[in-house]
Amino acid sequence: MSNPATIQEKTIHDEVSKHYAGRINSGSCCGPAAGSQANATAIDLYADVELTAVPMEAAQNSFGCGNPTAIASLHAGETVLDLGSGGGLDAFLAARQVGETGFVYGVDMTDEMLALARRNAEQGGFTNVEFRKGQIERLPVDDQSVDVIISNCVINLSPDKEQTLREAYRALRPGGRLAVSDIVIDGTLDDLPVSEEQVRAALSWAGCIAGALTIDDFRRTLETAGFVDVEIDAKHRYKLAELGQDMESVAATLTPEVAEKLVRRFVSANIQARRAA
Ligand SMILES: C[S@@+](CC[C@H](N)C(=O)[O-])C[C@H]1O[C@@H](n2cnc3c(N)ncnc32)[C@H](O)[C@@H]1O
Repeated sequence: MSNPATIQEKTIHDEVSKHYAGRINSGSCCGPAAGSQANATAIDLYADVELTAVPMEAAQNSFGCGNPTAIASLHAGETVLDLGSGGGLDAFLAARQVGETGFVYGVDMTDEMLALARRNAEQGGFTNVEFRKGQIERLPVDDQSVDVIISNCVINLSPDKEQTLREAYRALRPGGRLAVSDIVIDGTLDDLPVSEEQVRAALSWAGCIAGALTIDDFRRTLETAGFVDVEIDAKHRYKLAELGQDMESVAATLTPEVAEKLVRRFVSANIQARRAA
């Protein structure tokens, strides 16, 4: 008999994959759900000089909420792994930073995203990047094989974040580091008249909000996986219009003051940690 947890994980993976396959070249490069902007546009998150250094289709198909290579302090010769690499933008920026002596692996479970990323790599002449098909809960890389893990707005989408962060830890060499952008909840929703479960249930998982961890839970999950020196810095506090129609429906059931409080708990954050040497 199938394990219900496994069925739920498969349902989430299928929903997320279908959502992002459908977003490619959709013309709306922003929005976790229809009509929203929690995933900011590349123009908001990256410097012009970065965007002109990658294939146009990679820049146009950016679904992130931060700029992980801006915080990863990459060096020439390093091996980087991008969890949920999408159209490849962050992988290409990393590839330029680590140079010909370094290498970047991107992992994504969505065939359409992999095809796009591989097309972009060819078009941009990137020879130090490889995109592998796989789930971030079961990374298709050897133990202790990478120096740096990056990821942009993907860990919130994982149905099993403990497993994902254990896998990230396994893949890192001792002394290796993690530099991730993601959407998190700053604090708890305990003081609001709507429970965390109710809010999550009303939102689409693929929208990058329903599966967001609280900052404390993200820290705890990283530490339980073995990471040290965990730093989580809130960078952008969302407004209702940025969080999509699902959140607008939740907000409509609350007083304006409570709705405002709820929305402002959602932030994009830079998350950094290290595997001890
Ligand atoms: C919000 S998009 C971010 C893409 C990319 N990082 C960017 O910044 O444009 C999420 C991406 O992660 C992939 N993804 C989501 N959950 C995943 C999982 N559990 N395993 C592998 N890939 C996943 C999706 O297929 C999609 O390409």
